[in-house]
Amino acid sequence: MEVKFRDVGPEKIATELLVLPVQGKKLDAAPLRALDRSLRGKLRERIEKSKFTGAEGSSLLFPTVGLLPATQLLLIGMGKDLDTESWRRAGARARKEAGSLAATAIAWFFTEVDDAELAGASIVEGMLLASYQFNKYRSNGKAPEELKSLTLFRPGINRSKGLTNAIEAAQKATAGVSLARDLVNEPPSVTTARFLGAQAQRHCTGRGLSVEVWNKSKISALKLNGLLAVNRGSQEEPRFIKIHYKPAGKARKKVALIGKGITFDSGGLSLKPSKSMETMKLDMAGGAAVIATMSRLPHLGFDIEVTGYVPTTDNLPGPNAQKPGDIIRYLNGKTIEVLNTDAEGRLILADALCLAAKEKPDYMINLATLTGACVTALGNQVAGLFSNNQALADNLLRSSRDAGEKLWQLPLVKEYKEMIKSSVADMKNIGGASGGAITAALILQEFVGDVPWAHLDIAGPAFSESNTPLCPKGGTGFGVRTLLKFLSNL
Ligand code: BES
Ligand code: MN
Ligand code: ZN
Repeated sequence: MEVKFRDVGPEKIATELLVLPVQGKKLDAAPLRALDRSLRGKLRERIEKSKFTGAEGSSLLFPTVGLLPATQLLLIGMGKDLDTESWRRAGARARKEAGSLAATAIAWFFTEVDDAELAGASIVEGMLLASYQFNKYRSNGKAPEELKSLTLFRPGINRSKGLTNAIEAAQKATAGVSLARDLVNEPPSVTTARFLGAQAQRHCTGRGLSVEVWNKSKISALKLNGLLAVNRGSQEEPRFIKIHYKPAGKARKKVALIGKGITFDSGGLSLKPSKSMETMKLDMAGGAAVIATMSRLPHLGFDIEVTGYVPTTDNLPGPNAQKPGDIIRYLNGKTIEVLNTDAEGRLILADALCLAAKEKPDYMINLATLTGACVTALGNQVAGLFSNNQALADNLLRSSRDAGEKLWQLPLVKEYKEMIKSSVADMKNIGGASGGAITAALILQEFVGDVPWAHLDIAGPAFSESNTPLCPKGGTGFGVRTLLKFLSNL
């Protein structure tokens, strides 16, 4: 999508769909009056007859029947308080309208607001996020009409370098979100560990990026015993994906991103009931977010060195599957007694955290669809954040707010370590009846040493059970935008 700027009023612009955001009850604003004059008072008449009030979520489509250079006029209600999310939603609304009109060009009256960069980037982000569809497996699924151009206009519009950059960054980030969504939405027998490795190799190319995909014998040689244990029930080989980004200049900081890559979670011998298994292709969403984030780095030019780690396998029962009672010994010397094979995410993440911690990065962030308990606590729109470093947690909270992804900090309650005590090993892989998101995080913490670390439990928001304004039912790509914002703010 090409983004253009034009210094004209709404009555002058030729386009298929002219969008005018209307704030609150300000139905008499100057651009509306100008349009109404060209439309010989018909617009005012129509507004008065309709229920359109300018409230957030309301909209009004008006065909201009040759009275304006624009074919259709769309008024979008913005409500009173303009925040970035309302711009994203307005962008999404316009995109949907363009879709049903088969319009490929949109012109947007770019209202004067305090933070034009944020508004512009959010409009574009909303449009692109709402464009996403996954219908390669539908017999009647056709690719959605691509939006070719967006023209932001206003008399005296200020096309600053900052605005252009913010919009470009939004375009690059949303491409990453779409990749993460695609990886999650593919059926689990397509997205195997091998497939995920191949996808990382395919998408993580470009200046400064390199990918290593370790096979089972390399994984055995390196003693990544958690990944090997979880993989034992499977016919598919595991993979360990390591992606490295080295900026052109000197790196100011070193960051490790770690993603859970369970390509399908049946629970293993501690088998899940079938209903809980329906969406368990989502269990590599953390890994997908890491791969997708890494894939954007050469385009964004941050002076940060970033390493992505994605341990990946499916979790299946099989004749050789790991059994409740088995004990895993990790690279940092610690041992875990496996009492429930369905608590497998922490088992493979522990390997990756050990490897990452050895490199002594400045920050280490892992993303994982780790616990149903986190979904119970925060619902399906909010990810849980755990951290051993408050400055890092604050930075992530800020980044997620700017990115429009919801994050809520939960405590690492050290008293709860009591609940993960094992009678034979250093710890067991499950806690008690309550506080499951916290005990899972406490287990991960045993493997990060003293590196500033944050854990995002994305079990809720990684997958949307219904269509939402910015995302159809399925993988959401949650985390990509927050991580990219975090890296850009570092
Ligand atoms: N992948 C699941 C967590 C999950 C649940 C993600 C729902 C998305 C939606 C994880 O591996 C799991 O099975 N966790 C168990 C842990 C328990 C056995 C301690 C859970 O949450 O029930
Ligand atoms: Mn599980
Ligand atoms: Zn899982």
